[in-house]
Amino acid sequence: MRIAVLRAEGVRNLAPLQLVPRERFNVFVGDNGQGKTNLLETIYVVASLRSFRTAKLSDLVAFGAPEARIGARVERDELTHTYEIELAQGSRRVRLDGKAVKPLARYFGGFNVVVFTPEDLNLARGSPSDRRRFLDRSVFNLRPDYLALAQDYEKVLRQRNAVLRQAGQGTLAGRTLDELLSVYEHQLAPLAVAVATAGRSSWRALHGELEQAFEAITRTHLAVEARYVARGKGTTADAIVSELVAGRARIWRRDPRTSGRTATISCSRSTAATPGCSLRRASCARSCSRGRAPS
Ligand SMILES: Nc1ncnc2c1ncn2[C@@H]1O[C@H](COP(=O)(O)OP(=O)(O)O)[C@@H](O)[C@H]1O
Ligand SMILES: [Mg+2]
Repeated sequence: MRIAVLRAEGVRNLAPLQLVPRERFNVFVGDNGQGKTNLLETIYVVASLRSFRTAKLSDLVAFGAPEARIGARVERDELTHTYEIELAQGSRRVRLDGKAVKPLARYFGGFNVVVFTPEDLNLARGSPSDRRRFLDRSVFNLRPDYLALAQDYEKVLRQRNAVLRQAGQGTLAGRTLDELLSVYEHQLAPLAVAVATAGRSSWRALHGELEQAFEAITRTHLAVEARYVARGKGTTADAIVSELVAGRARIWRRDPRTSGRTATISCSRSTAATPGCSLRRASCARSCSRGRAPS
């Protein structure tokens, strides 16, 4: 896959541009603040419809401009597709080959980007939700249909949690409450199984790559271990429903947003290199993330 042409207009501090990148390796050099990262962000946004810098895509609109427009012609397997996004305050228009995209999942799968920034250290240092987001993005790059699945899961989860909050505030009780929760839990359980299954199989596919990449970058002979932990591992939707029912009281006492999926990463010295020295998750956050070998 390669970007044949990139066009951008009204994006941050970039002058209107039409860029024809070289086939393999491109270097952008410039003083601080000249827009190097903005250019990478532009590519990332038109490929993934999200930014690695901001949650609000309208932040990309240049100060004083009404809108930002980005387009990329992408060649892949002898086929060419044109990806476009237009951003304005509060609106986003997306086109694939000149047409509106429905469902949006159709946009994805043919234009894959990977960005590596200092923030990626959050993968090891940050919270489980950082890892979950990373995993969701990876799964989604491997299987575009995952988007709809993950969105459904999050939606039903939010609905159930809203009901739990209402119950916590005393505005819902009795049979109505039980019936509502039951409806959501029966929807949630099979979605949870599907999300976990997709997550696990994608993670298996990524794990070998992770080991190789880690060694190629660090050259430390440190073994890196990453595990995907999903609630209800190997269990059925019915078992998850029972677990959800049993967990209702516990959850509405605590933070009802807990989604029950975590992805952990831990590093340890390979036993062959230094027997007896191992790093657990906590020290990984302190020691493994800034390119220093653990002592
Ligand atoms: N919406 C915007 N409109 C115009 N300029 C912006 C906007 N957002 C950021 N900038 C400018 O972009 C510059 C930062 O660009 P950046 O790509 O991060 O630089 P670098 O080349 O150092 O990576 C800053 O000068 C900032 O003022
Ligand atoms: Mg920069």
